[in-house]
Amino acid sequence: MKATQSPSWARIPNAIFGWFDERIGLTGMITALLHMEIPRSAHTYYLGGITMFFFMVQAATGILLSLYYQPTPEAAYDSILFIMNELNFGWLVRSVHAWGANLMIVFCILHMLRIIVQGAYKKPREVTWMVGMGLLFITLGFGFTGYLLPWDQRAYWATTVGTEIAAAVPFIGRNILEFLRGGADVSALTLSRFLGVHMLIMPASLIAFLTLHIIIIHKQGLADPKAREDE
Ligand code: HEM
Repeated sequence: MKATQSPSWARIPNAIFGWFDERIGLTGMITALLHMEIPRSAHTYYLGGITMFFFMVQAATGILLSLYYQPTPEAAYDSILFIMNELNFGWLVRSVHAWGANLMIVFCILHMLRIIVQGAYKKPREVTWMVGMGLLFITLGFGFTGYLLPWDQRAYWATTVGTEIAAAVPFIGRNILEFLRGGADVSALTLSRFLGVHMLIMPASLIAFLTLHIIIIHKQGLADPKAREDE
């Protein structure tokens, strides 16, 4: 082996990549996904990307937490105490998940504000905006459903009050409340319902909406507010 040549095991990833690339054109897909023209006046165009980054952090830490979290009224709080006090780095994973949840909401709202300030919601980007509104609701929904999972006093009463607000909707308010709680009161059924929404329905919908968001953005390119000023 020459001194300049990398050892044969180090070439394995390249060989695997090359095998797939030759058959399904990976380079083309990656180039199309990553290489995009960014307007010169772009100073805050990273906010959507940061929101997406926090979603990935939430997915990774959420999967780790789900390995030890027990979703029953008897065991949920104790499993949180176990994660925080006994599990190696459990406190870190849970804290990153909690901070990540808040930061994802903050950056989603900052991203939306930049869209408003730069008028990037205007024609032809109305659909991107509408899909974005869906993403905002899902992001807030993650926070609302996740809050109940530790099953402590704060979680219990926040959900009691939160679902009570839904009851204020005229005519169908009571039905919405019972649908959310799985009955008249916050109970074991509310916990399993919220967990299902938090771990399955919300992630699946966010991935679907986000894929659509990104496909449209790639198709249309990013809005250039400077060009609009010059028109
Ligand atoms: C989970 C939440 C969201 C993620 C991960 C996300 C992600 C992104 C990304 C990566 C971009 C391209 C780069 C950028 O402009 O920052 C983008 C653009 C855009 N987003 Fe979002 N977004 C989210 C929520 C929203 C919300 C709440 C709205 C508005 C209601 C929105 C409306 C738009 C629009 C109109 C564009 C096109 C901007 C342009 O052409 O200049 N997005 N989004």
